[in-house]
Amino acid sequence: MTIAEAMRVSETEGKGECTRGLVGLRGMPAESMRTILTRARDLLAEPQNVALDVARGRAVGLAFLEPSTRTRGSFSLAAQRLGAMVVDVSTNSSASKGESIAETVRTLEAMGIDAIVVRSAYSGAAVSAQRASEAPIINAGDGRHEHPTQGLLDTLSLAEALGRDAAFDLAGVRVLIVGDIVASRVARSAVAALTTLGAHVTLVGPDRLAPDDLTTLAQGLAITRDFDAAIATNPDAVMMLRVQFERHADPGVVQAGYRDAFGLTTERARRLHQGAIVMHPGPTNPGVEIDQAVALGRVKSVRVLVRRQVRCGVAVRMAVLERALGIS
Ligand code: NCD
Repeated sequence: MTIAEAMRVSETEGKGECTRGLVGLRGMPAESMRTILTRARDLLAEPQNVALDVARGRAVGLAFLEPSTRTRGSFSLAAQRLGAMVVDVSTNSSASKGESIAETVRTLEAMGIDAIVVRSAYSGAAVSAQRASEAPIINAGDGRHEHPTQGLLDTLSLAEALGRDAAFDLAGVRVLIVGDIVASRVARSAVAALTTLGAHVTLVGPDRLAPDDLTTLAQGLAITRDFDAAIATNPDAVMMLRVQFERHADPGVVQAGYRDAFGLTTERARRLHQGAIVMHPGPTNPGVEIDQAVALGRVKSVRVLVRRQVRCGVAVRMAVLERALGIS
């Protein structure tokens, strides 16, 4: 499946209206996003070390057929905090024997698993999984297509930092998404969520990583190749993306000078306005798209949300699992 096909299919089949799964954010109504975000915000206020029992007796399957630390760990924690059992077939599964994602989810479903979280290197894998399964499928990242819980957790952390988490109305908020956008499922989901909730998004990157046709991802999406000029417009937030070397056939996709032109260096971070927000989904390539000192919060004039994004990820995944399990 091409990304374009995956986007079209997930927009029409995967918006969560026909199943309780979550394949993508593109096409999802603002009210559905706000319902999940509001529940996640409320869950963030709950004591962290107390397990709820709303999902007691239910089972959540995890099939991460690609590496993951944050997403897999937080889905596992989220399911357990809801009181669900977790069956994790991410490592050494029969996928390594060539079993398809469709057969993997059918097998989990046959065990009686109630909701299945999938990650795959293939764009459209979550759509294929949802077509094969009666159980709701939650996309934890499929190739370059979407990573919807990441888009929601980015939105939650941003709205919280800006004091917009009462209504999740982002009108007037200006966000730069910078770097390897073409290979980024994070960017596609963030663009869908942020623009649907009213933010103005500008993509920033070199031609090869941010081709002009990406502006068709959403209405009103802007694009520029000049990071310094974009910073001079005083954006509210800058979302840096990892250069995803493993998703590019050409290892030379990033030219020497990338950091100088598109990296959030310490010097550039200091030019952001006081209190500006810096985000990164992780993992970072320190010294490529973001300087380590910036990522670690050592530039005191900006607010770095990297760790808060991870924390918000647990709450968003609890809210998405509750929805998938029919609890909320
Ligand atoms: C991202 C992913 O895997 O899509 N990471 C994540 O889920 N936090 C982004 C990336 O790998 O660059």
